[in-house]
Amino acid sequence: MHVELYERIWMWAAGALLLLFLGAIFLTAGLHAVQPPSHIETVDPTTLADHPEFGKPGVATRADGSVVVSVVAQTFSFSPDPIEVPANRPVTFRLTSADVVHGFEVVGTNANAMAIPGYVSQFTVTFPEPGEYIVGCNEYCGTLHHNMVGKLIVKESP
Ligand code: CUA
Repeated sequence: MHVELYERIWMWAAGALLLLFLGAIFLTAGLHAVQPPSHIETVDPTTLADHPEFGKPGVATRADGSVVVSVVAQTFSFSPDPIEVPANRPVTFRLTSADVVHGFEVVGTNANAMAIPGYVSQFTVTFPEPGEYIVGCNEYCGTLHHNMVGKLIVKESP
């Protein structure tokens, strides 16, 4: 079969782009631990106020010393704020939204997930050093989206 030279060039160019983009996915997955969500849990966003966990969002310590942070995102704030967690211990974030889709990104780390009404997003991270982080909403959620900022304080482990 005869394929024109220009057509051949574009076919190879398209193939090279595919490999480039696939490579970018594998690279970020491998080096930056960027993964699709794996936790599926639902919650009724209309009755969050009465929910045993999300009715009183906050930080809890489990018997094994690990820490669980329940966060409710709502236009245009996070609750609790600030969030205080210990350094050098696994911290499991459990996020949900009371209204629209929000983002929850601990700026400068790979802790980053969407807060989706009706679902609980969960991920676990360990912050090795004490410090302060900005928590930003990175999903456009309304006119004051740019003001939706919280604070995470990582304290020396007791
Ligand atoms: Cu919440 Cu943007």
